[in-house]
Amino acid sequence: MSLSTAMHPKPARGCFITLEGIEGAGKSTHIAALSALLCSMGIGVVTTREPGGSPIAERIRALLLDSSNTGMDETAELLLMFAARAEHLSKTIRPALESGAWVLCDRFTDATYAYQGGGRGLNPERIALLETLVQGDLRPDLTLLFDLEPALGLERARGRGTADRFESETLHFFDAVRAVYLERAHASPERYRLIDAAAPLSDVGEQADQALRALIETRRGETADASGEGEHL
Ligand code: TMP
Repeated sequence: MSLSTAMHPKPARGCFITLEGIEGAGKSTHIAALSALLCSMGIGVVTTREPGGSPIAERIRALLLDSSNTGMDETAELLLMFAARAEHLSKTIRPALESGAWVLCDRFTDATYAYQGGGRGLNPERIALLETLVQGDLRPDLTLLFDLEPALGLERARGRGTADRFESETLHFFDAVRAVYLERAHASPERYRLIDAAAPLSDVGEQADQALRALIETRRGETADASGEGEHL
């Protein structure tokens, strides 16, 4: 260990938490409360979103969501998602995690499997190749899946104003998106927490809160074991 490392030990990597679900599931409403919970426990937090989350990635987002971009090639859409993700990872997510902050991200690669894989019908093996290329071995520590019937989600989302390029998709598209989310959640129960997003707002908040508290407790236990001390994250 170098002298500077000994004097300024590297902070433990922060946890990477993603929120997923179809439109109208309420992720954006709950992310602020989750961020406040982390802050109240003295944990640094960065709240971000995909596509977007860094200046260039936000420009790619505008292209992807613009409903006047009709007939976008599906592979082009997939590559734009990962181009935005590469920027987001290098400018926002990795620096935050390395500084010890926890990252709360509104959508990540599970959305690519669900929307481009399920909704557009692209081959998930190709998505997996891009995932490895862009992310290396970085995967979320916890994914909160806000699940609800697409008809209800779309009714909520469309009530918010003009539909973007994805919100203009059919119910059939969102049924396929939801099915892939649920398949992935069942395949990786250690990473996913399924949240009933059709429940009253306060219950949904409580479910999300509990999932986050469980991760904080696990992290505290691991950190205490590693350092031989208690409490520090
Ligand atoms: P939102 O931020 O308002 O939820 O909009 C983002 C849209 O982009 C949403 O409809 C889901 C879609 N999306 C994908 O299709 N693939 C992805 O990988 C991501 C991150 C989002």
